[in-house]
Amino acid sequence: MNLSMPNPVQPTEASVEAPMVQFRDVTKRYGDLTVLDHLDLDVHNGEKVAIIGPSGSGKSTLLRALMTLETIDEGVIMVDGEPLTHMPSAGGQLVRANARHQRSVRGKVGMVFQSFNLFPHMNALQNVMEAPVQVLSLPKAEARERAEELLAMVGLEDKLDHYPSQLSGGQQQRVAIARALAMRPKV
Ligand SMILES: Nc1ncnc2c1ncn2[C@@H]1O[C@H](COP(=O)(O)OP(=O)(O)O)[C@@H](O)[C@H]1O
Ligand SMILES: [Mg+2]
Repeated sequence: MNLSMPNPVQPTEASVEAPMVQFRDVTKRYGDLTVLDHLDLDVHNGEKVAIIGPSGSGKSTLLRALMTLETIDEGVIMVDGEPLTHMPSAGGQLVRANARHQRSVRGKVGMVFQSFNLFPHMNALQNVMEAPVQVLSLPKAEARERAEELLAMVGLEDKLDHYPSQLSGGQQQRVAIARALAMRPKV
C-alpha cells in the first residue's frame, strides 16, 4: 500500500496536540511481499478516516498492526502520544514493546472485526456487558446501564434479549459496535 500523508508532525514534545494515531515509516512484510511500505499516517482526535483500496492492498494489515495483532518490521506506531510497538528501556532507548506494554496501550483502541465474533451463547445485552465486567471490573448494574444506552444508540433497544442467531447481519454488526464502544476506547 502506498498510503503516504504529507505534513509530518513535529516530535511529540514540540506539538501541543499530538495525533491520536501515528504511523511513522512503518513497513510490514510477509516474506517477499511488502504490504506496508514506509507508511506515514496521522489521525487526529475526532477525525474520521476511511481507508479505501483494492482487496489485498493492506487495509486489514494496517488495522491489525494498530491492534497489535500483527508485528511490524520497521517503524513505530504511536497511540495517544505513546509508542505502541516500542517502549523506553532502562537506558532511555526505544526498544520493542513487550506483551504487557502492548496490552496497556492497546486498551485505548477499539475494533469491530469484519466477522463480528459475537459470543453466540450470550444475548445482545450480555455481549455488550461482558468485557466491561470481566476486564474493567465495572459493577454489573453500571455495565448493564451502559450497555442499554449503547444498544439504544445503535437502535437495538428492543433486541436486548436476542441472541446473535436471532439477529440480522446488520443488527449483529451494530451489537459489535456497541460492544467495542462499551470499553470507551480513545480510538
Ligand atoms: N498472515 C499472512 N501471511 C502471508 N500473507 C498475508 C497474511 N495476511 C495477509 N497477507 C497478504 O497481505 C496482503 C494484504 O492483505 P490485507 O491487509 O488482508 O488486505 P485488504 O484488507 O486490503 O484486503 C494480501 O496480499 C494478503 O494475501
Ligand atoms: Mg481486509
